[in-house]
Amino acid sequence: MHTGTGAIPYENKANFYAALAREVEALADPYWFTSLANVSSSLMMNLPRINWVGFYLLKNGELALGPFQGLPACTRIALGRGVCGTAASEKRSLLVPDVDAFPGHIVCDSASKSEIVVPLIRENGEVFGVLDVDSSELNRFDEADVKGLEVVVRLLLRTIPFPTEF
Ligand code: SME
Repeated sequence: MHTGTGAIPYENKANFYAALAREVEALADPYWFTSLANVSSSLMMNLPRINWVGFYLLKNGELALGPFQGLPACTRIALGRGVCGTAASEKRSLLVPDVDAFPGHIVCDSASKSEIVVPLIRENGEVFGVLDVDSSELNRFDEADVKGLEVVVRLLLRTIPFPTEF
């Protein structure tokens, strides 16, 4: 599990996510894949006590594994399935304190015990992916983490020219 050896102190979450958003903004690249590759690394380096972080993008009607950090993961997730597919189909962030208690949770890394998933939603309301963050600790995340990651996602949507199709 990564201990978050980045430079941003995590103690004050509002300050942490404001600083993380600035770092993420500085990583924006004209090519979306490059941006998400570096953002995945920044999240892994800065968010303490997580074991997996990355993106799934909507391709041919299902979520396809995109840039990430952590153990190899499941490559396709149907909309409505698992935490990721549910967050995408319901167009809402999901905070899961215990993945074993989430109906239909999909196990990629057996060490994952809690999870946050934030959907990527275009201005026209179309979902085109999710940001998924896992921890090997139960109840690792709270609403401040959800709001902070939603700020990061909103910034990605504003600064990265995502294609209409992946
Ligand atoms: N746990 C997720 C699957 C993705 S792996 O965690 C990277 C889910 O239930 O959708």
